[in-house]
Parts: sequence; structure tokens; C-alpha cells
Amino acid sequence: MELTTQHGDFNRQNFGDDFIWGVATAAFQVEGSCDCDGKGESIWDVFAAKRGKIKNGDKPHIACDFYNRYKEDIDLIKQLNIPNFRFSISWSRILPSGIGEINQLGIDHYNRVIDYCLEQGVEPWVTVYHWDLPQALEAKGGWTNREVVNWFSEFVRVCANNFGHKVKNWMVMNEPSVFTGAGYFLGVHAPGRLGLGNFLPAVHHALMSIAAGGRILRELLPNTAEIGTTFSCSYIEPKSDKPRDVAAANQVNTLLNRLYIEPILGLGYPEKDLPVLKKMKKYIRPGDVESMQFDFDFIGVQLYTREIVEYSFLTPYIHANIVKAKKRNVPLTDMGWEVYPPSIYKILKQFNQYTNIRKLYITENGAAFPDEVKDDVVNDVKRTAYLQEYLQQVLKAKKEGCKVSGYFVWTLTDNFEWAEGYNPRFGLIHVNFDTQKRIVKSSGQWYGDFIKA
Ligand code: GCO
Repeated sequence: MELTTQHGDFNRQNFGDDFIWGVATAAFQVEGSCDCDGKGESIWDVFAAKRGKIKNGDKPHIACDFYNRYKEDIDLIKQLNIPNFRFSISWSRILPSGIGEINQLGIDHYNRVIDYCLEQGVEPWVTVYHWDLPQALEAKGGWTNREVVNWFSEFVRVCANNFGHKVKNWMVMNEPSVFTGAGYFLGVHAPGRLGLGNFLPAVHHALMSIAAGGRILRELLPNTAEIGTTFSCSYIEPKSDKPRDVAAANQVNTLLNRLYIEPILGLGYPEKDLPVLKKMKKYIRPGDVESMQFDFDFIGVQLYTREIVEYSFLTPYIHANIVKAKKRNVPLTDMGWEVYPPSIYKILKQFNQYTNIRKLYITENGAAFPDEVKDDVVNDVKRTAYLQEYLQQVLKAKKEGCKVSGYFVWTLTDNFEWAEGYNPRFGLIHVNFDTQKRIVKSSGQWYGDFIKA
């Protein structure tokens, strides 16, 4: 079956021999085994157990059973010729109370996963934190408590000391905007807190932690580690060129795309373009602005879509409203996100303007579509087209001199999509959640063939 629609100069070679090709997952979304082998509770265990928080009442206890089936899944990564695998470490698996006593069974587990990757010739890329804060720390205020910077530092140290001799590539934190925004402002993700009084300190302490984590990895793994961190981005456009819509779009762009990266780059908080950040002062102590800065080897950009923004009197703090893609008569994914390939090109160009970013990787990009299994085949043409079209835009940015050096598909297998449960399927590999049977989708086959070519 011919699955490729390669044409012109869209082939792997044109990305260059040293371009990094990979696939990404996150511990809580795939592992299951939430209370096995001494693991402590995380905020996601607690949040998912509450009524009405997860669509269809879906439960995370088994997920893709990656905790037990990691070999099978790493074999599939190898079979698909994907050289790099990004995954995260569950904090409460190795430090059940968040700090203090180490759970050796948790350490052993991740050593087995890492060793198996290396044996198969798959390079492990570790995300230290992908949203699953130990519940014991949330009970002490979680990300709103400034002490979290020390707690997080200890977690990073444990990871570096136990896995650092084998793992070369590190991402300190995944998408601080999402876990602070959805988790501490909107209350739709764990731990389900609301309001500015939770959000602003959570943001500040997350950024302090990212830089602290970068410094610890550099100190403990000098010369060997490539250290980065990842940010979620959306390409933002105003609904019209009316000044009010343009100003609204500027605020949303600042909130989603600039607030988190700029302090890390040493540019401070962008409060001129997002005046609500003036309220952040309360949490900033002398020396914080300096200690939020860290010179990462790479920045991971995670992009799925574009958002159109209009002025709204009713929205507090930013007077801006995102016009739902559903109302715009555009192609949609199962998440209700617009399929808009140029968004990845535009955001790469936008981030490329930061002169003190050394290297950019796309650490997540992909799409959820309602897949159909027929005779053990999943012919997901929409996902294949999505990946091809977005990758063509990555290549375009690269050819124009953008320092993008790698691309990771989100995600390996269909998995637990946070508050959305199991319904949105993002995987290159289909999972039957009753039997745990895996079927490589045609998109996965295409990606593997593309990389191999
Ligand atoms: C993210 C999340 C992933 C999501 C994916 C699709 O980093 O945004 O890490 O866990 O599953 O983005 O929503």
C-alpha cells in the first residue's frame, strides 16, 4: 500500500542528517499502575477520582498499561525506525511523598525502561515533570507554596543522580502554561484550583523551578547532558484589524506564548503587554528575576493549532475572547482544534526571533481524530495528512534559517487525554483499551517510512 504523498523536496534528507526525529508520551497518560510498587498518590490520581472531572467517568488506573508493557511499546518504536523517545518520570513513583524517602522500586522501574530503550537503540529523552505533582505536596499548597522550588529541586537531583549516567537528553518541565492555567486558574485540570490568587504564585514558582532544575542538571551532569524545557504555544491572530481585536490578540499572545519563556530567557515578565501581571509583584522577591533565568541548550515548542481572538468586554483581566474554531467553519481535530499547518511555521518564526534561544525542537505536534478499526487496520488518512502538512511547514521554516533541529510526534499510543479521558485518540498506534491490543495506524507506518527513507 502506498502511504506516502511525498513530493518535491519534502523528504527526510532535506531536514538534514542531524535532525532529531522522535515520539513523545507522558507518565500519567500511559503508565496506569497508579498505586503499584510503592507509588504515592499524585494530584491527577486524586482529581481523576472526583466525580464529573473526567469525561465519561474514564479512569486512569490502567491507561495503556505502559508500566507493564513498556517493552512491547519500545519494540514498536524500534520497529517504526523512530530513533528518539520522549517520556516523563512520575514524581510520586520515585518520591511517594514528594520529598524525603526514595522508593527504590520506582527508581528500578525507570532504570529498566531506560535500559531497554538503550538496548534497542532508542535514545531516551526524559521530561522530569509532566504535571503529576505528588498529592502530599499539594496538601502543603502545591505550586502556590514557594517551598515547591526546593521540593522540585530535590526531585530533579534524584532523577539526575539515578538516571543521569544513562540519559543524555533532558526536559525539565512540560508546558507550565497548561498546568498553571488549567490546574490553578480554570480548575479544569488537577488540582482543580481557581483564580488569580492561585494562578500567579503557581506561575512564578513554576518558572523559578524550571531555572533551578536546569541549573541542577547542568551542575550534576556537566558536559554530558543536553538540557531543555518545553512550552505550549498557539499561533494567535486577531479576528479583524480593528484596534480592539488587535489589542486583545496581543494580550492572548503574551499570555500563551510569552509569559513563560521570557522570564527564563532573562527578559522578565512581559507586564507591559499583559497588565494583569502587575499583580505578580506580590510574589517576587529580590533576586528572583535573576534566578528565573537559565541558558538552556534547547527550547521545546509544542504546537497544535492557531487561535483567533476578538475583543470581549466580559472577560476579566484580558478583555479578550478566543473565537471557537467550531464557529469558524474550518477543518477540526477531535479536540475541536483547527487544523492549520502554517501555525507551526509562524510560531517557529516567532520563537526564532529570541536571539538567546540556542536551538528549537518541536517537542509535541499531532492530532486526535476518531479512528476506525477495520480488519485489524486503522487507515487514519487525516492524521497522516496532518503530520505531512505540518512537517512541510517545519521544513519551510528551517530552510529560511530557523534554528529548528528536531520534531517529536504527540503521541506514541492512544492514551489518557487528561480531563478528556480516552476518547480523543492522538496515537500513531491504536490501543484497544479493553484488551490492550496495539495496532500500528497507517500514520505510524508513514512516519516510520518517512524517517527511514
Ligand atoms: C501537552 C500535553 C499532552 C497532551 C497533548 C494533547 O503537553 O500538551 O503534554 O499531554 O496530551 O498536548 O492535548
